Amino acid sequence: MIHVKQLQKSYGSAHILRGIDCDIAESEVVCVIGPSGSGKSTFLRCLNGLEEASDGEILVDGVMVNDPAIDLNAMRAGVGMVFQRFNLFPHMSVLENLIMAPMQVKKMSRKDAVVVAEKLLLKVGLLDKIDAFPNQLSGGQQQRVAIARALAMEPKVMLFDEPTSALDPELVGEVLTVMKALAEEGMTMVVVTHEMGFAREVSDRVFFIDQGVIMEQGPPQQVLGAPHNERTRDFLRKVLL
Ligand SMILES: Nc1ncnc2c1ncn2[C@@H]1O[C@H](COP(=O)(O)OP(=O)(O)OP(=O)(O)O)[C@@H](O)[C@H]1O
Ligand SMILES: [Mg+2]
Repeated sequence: MIHVKQLQKSYGSAHILRGIDCDIAESEVVCVIGPSGSGKSTFLRCLNGLEEASDGEILVDGVMVNDPAIDLNAMRAGVGMVFQRFNLFPHMSVLENLIMAPMQVKKMSRKDAVVVAEKLLLKVGLLDKIDAFPNQLSGGQQQRVAIARALAMEPKVMLFDEPTSALDPELVGEVLTVMKALAEEGMTMVVVTHEMGFAREVSDRVFFIDQGVIMEQGPPQQVLGAPHNERTRDFLRKVLL
């Protein structure tokens, strides 16, 4: 589903991604961990074309993301992204947040888009909030709406960039529960997270990114439980303290 070869990204003279190689299969769940500034967000943003790669190859579902001729809107429709901050449109109700992109980008009728929105809100447990505005919702509820909004585009891949790290601790669980259900349904997911419990329980593989490369990768039991790399061990010691 995702193929990345020698992905490089520089900002000016700062060489941030220094040759990322990976293949992620359909329905696979990959958790990405690593120190601050190592390039985790940059990697995700390159995957959906929010950032332009400086060099290398990125294919998502067979579509070359870093092809100048690509229709970025069409490509992004296939890749959902959820950020640390919820990014809901504050002046729109939950329903309007969910139906806007399907109507504008997919040219869905309002009626059809509402049916999809209701189904997704039911799935994330928030059908009763359909007419609420974002500022009337808790952080956890807003993040669940953000997930539903991304799913409304029927993406093939979902990218999550620290989706729970801005939440109060007691709200983290409800968001992880929604993500876990999504993983169990077979969604292909790449999740940057500090939630080691989630990584251990839900992911098929963990990537440890450091200084712009995947330093170590493997099943969670191995990378988190018995890391080969000294830098992975050092990082885990710090986050698990
Ligand atoms: N638009 C930009 N312009 C210049 N430098 C940038 C830009 N975006 C990111 N960087 C730099 O790239 C490096 C990697 O940033 P990135 O956000 O990918 O790190 P991260 O691993 O996600 O860190 P964190 O865990 O803190 O979120 C950092 O040094 C950052 O300052
Ligand atoms: Mg980041």
